[in-house]
Amino acid sequence: LITKRNYHERVLDHYNNPRNIGSFDKKDIDVGTATVGAPACGDVMKIQIKVKENIVVDVCFKTFGCGSAIASSSLATEWVKGKTLDQCLEIKNTDIAKHLSLPPVKMHCSMLAEQAIKRAIYDYKVKHEKLNSSEQTTI
Ligand code: FES
Ligand code: FES
Repeated sequence: LITKRNYHERVLDHYNNPRNIGSFDKKDIDVGTATVGAPACGDVMKIQIKVKENIVVDVCFKTFGCGSAIASSSLATEWVKGKTLDQCLEIKNTDIAKHLSLPPVKMHCSMLAEQAIKRAIYDYKVKHEKLNSSEQTTI
């Protein structure tokens, strides 16, 4: 267990009881997968969503990283579950960081989570050819 000294209690909660750890079959047509890395520290985060009728019905993650990255991804999985893809795209890393009271030096950990959600949605949309041309150029 990590100590209370450097982390907010919500980070500790997610770190000690991470939600939705696991992985789905990447080849499943209903699954969108994203693996993102933080150049700043070499940490890696994988988030996968399972989508039915435009709603995230299930989600899982695996993160090799610091406590803040684990907490950010765990929290992100809680936030996307049950939401439409458009609602998921509105999740901002700043909201994650605020909820977890991350210090500035840990902002990139929350950025990984936002990026992973966006890319998982992108991956799902590519599989279903649901991208419009503006989306293709933004990621
Ligand atoms: Fe690598 Fe955060 S710097 S775990
Ligand atoms: Fe690099 Fe948290 S992901 S310090």
